[in-house]
Amino acid sequence: MIFYDLQEFFDIKSWLLCLFFCLLLIDIIKNKNPTNFPPGPWRPPFIGNVFTGMDHKTIDELSKKYGDVFSVRWGSDKTVFICGFKMVKEALVTQLDSFADRPVIPLFDKVYKGLSVSLSNGYIWKKQRRFLTSYLHYFGEAKKNLEMSIQQECLCLCDTFREIKGPFNPQFYVYSAVSNIICAVIFGHRFDYHDERFLNILRLDIEAIVLAGSSHAQLYNIFPRLFDYIPGQHQQMFSDYNQIIDFLKDEIKMHKENWDPSDPQDYIDAYLAEMEKRNSDPQAGFRLDTLVFILMDMLEAGTETVATTIRWTVLYLMKYPEIQKKVQAEIDRVIGQSRQPSLDDRPNMPYIDAVIHETQRFANILPLGFPKSATKDTILGGYFIPKGTSVTTNLSSVLYDKNVWETPDTFNPGHFLDEHGQFRKRDAFMPFSAGRRVCLGEQLARMELFLFITSLLQHFTFSPAPGEELSLEGQLGFTNTPSPYGVCVTPR
Ligand code: HEM
Repeated sequence: MIFYDLQEFFDIKSWLLCLFFCLLLIDIIKNKNPTNFPPGPWRPPFIGNVFTGMDHKTIDELSKKYGDVFSVRWGSDKTVFICGFKMVKEALVTQLDSFADRPVIPLFDKVYKGLSVSLSNGYIWKKQRRFLTSYLHYFGEAKKNLEMSIQQECLCLCDTFREIKGPFNPQFYVYSAVSNIICAVIFGHRFDYHDERFLNILRLDIEAIVLAGSSHAQLYNIFPRLFDYIPGQHQQMFSDYNQIIDFLKDEIKMHKENWDPSDPQDYIDAYLAEMEKRNSDPQAGFRLDTLVFILMDMLEAGTETVATTIRWTVLYLMKYPEIQKKVQAEIDRVIGQSRQPSLDDRPNMPYIDAVIHETQRFANILPLGFPKSATKDTILGGYFIPKGTSVTTNLSSVLYDKNVWETPDTFNPGHFLDEHGQFRKRDAFMPFSAGRRVCLGEQLARMELFLFITSLLQHFTFSPAPGEELSLEGQLGFTNTPSPYGVCVTPR
C-alpha cells in the first residue's frame, strides 16, 4: 500500500534524485575523516581528488599549501603524504614501528599476490626479508663472491664499450651489466649482452616499469574491478610481468632438476634448502610461488634502480666535464691504470664517493619512495593517522629540502665533502629511504655504483654524441630516468 502511494507520488526523476542523495549520504558517512586527520584539498564526492596528479611536483605544491603532513583522497582511498627531512625522519626513524606495513596496491597485488618481500606484511615479510638479507650478507661477505662478480662484469662492460665504434646509447649495456649482478646472486650465472632471451626480459622489465607509472595504471589502482575489463597500458604491463614470471619459473625448474643440497651455488639453491627446513612453519611462506615473486623483486628492484643511477652519473659527468676530470684525477692518483678498482679503494676516494652520493640526491630516482601504511594508530605532526591508512613519504622533498642542503637545486658534490675535502655523511641522504622498510639492497647497490662508475671512468672519457643537446629533465614513470642519450667514449 505504502509502495503504491510512493509510486503515485514519485516520477522516475524523483527516484533517481532520491537514489543520488542516498549514495551521497553513504559516501559522506563512509569517507568521513576522523577528528584531527591531516588536512588536504577539497574532495568531490565519489571520486575524491582523482584529477590531482600523483607526481612529486604536484605533491610538493600541495605541501606548500597544506603543510608537511596532508592527505588526498583518490576514489575511496585516502593517502597521507609526509614531506621534508624533519617530518620524514620523525615518521620513519623516530616512530620506527608506525609505518612499517605496505598497503594493498591493486596493480601490484594482481601481479605479486601479496607475496615477495617488497609487498608482503607481517610474519611472512619478516621471515622472507631476514632470509634474503642474510643470504646477501653470506654471498657478499663470507664468500667475497659479490665483489668478484661485479669486478668481472665491469671488465665485460668496459670491453664492450671499447669495441663500439662511434656514438651509441649505453642504456641496454648498462642494464645488462647491472642485471647480471642480480643474476649471479639468484641464478648463479650471467647472460651474454647479446642473448636475445635475456634482452627480451630486460625490455619487458623496462616497459613494465614505465607502464606502472602510466595514467591507466593509476586509474587501475583506484577502480581495479572496472579497469580489469578495460583495455589499456595496464593490461600490457600485466602481460609483460607474466612473461617475466615464465622466464623465472624456467630457471627454478632447471635448478630443481640439478639441485645438490650439499653444494648450494646461489639464492635459488639456498631457498630450496630453506623450504625443506621450514616445512613445519607454513606461515613463513617458504614455497615455490613465493620464490618466484622474490626473484622478480630482486630483478626489478635491483636492476632498474642501479642502472638508472649509473646512466644519470654518466649524463652529469658529460654535462660537467670539470667534475669528470676531477674524478679521473682521483682514480689516477689512488688506483692508476694497471689494476682494477676494489672496494678497499673507496675510503681513499672521497671525491668519487661524493659525486655518486650527489648523483643519487640530485637524480632523485624514486621521488615518492614506495607506499606504506600505518601499522597502528599514530600521531604525527600533531595529526591523527589511523591504523591501515596509506602513507607516502616524499623522498624528493628530503633530497631537495631547502632547510638542509646548501644548494638543493644545483648538482654540487660539495654537499658531501668537508672543508678538508674528506667525505662527510649527511642525515638527509635518503634515496634508499629509512626505517624498517629501508632498501635491503642498499649495500649491494653502493658496491655496484662505486665499482661500475670507477671502472668506467678509469678506462674512458665520456662526451656527448655530436649535435646532442643533453637534457637534465627526467622522464617520470615509476622511477625518474634520464631521457635516452648518445655518448662517445674515448679510451684513456
Ligand atoms: C640505487 C639503487 C637503489 C635505490 C635508490 C633503492 C631504493 C629503494 C627504496 C626507496 C625502497 C623503498 C623503501 C621504503 O619502503 O621505505 C627500496 C626497497 C627495496 N629495495 Fe631497493 N633500491 C636500490 C637498489 C636495490 C637493489 C640492488 C636491490 C636488490 C637486492 C633492492 C631491493 C629492494 C627490496 C627487496 C626492497 C623492499 C624492502 C621491503 O619492503 O622490506 N634495491 N629500495
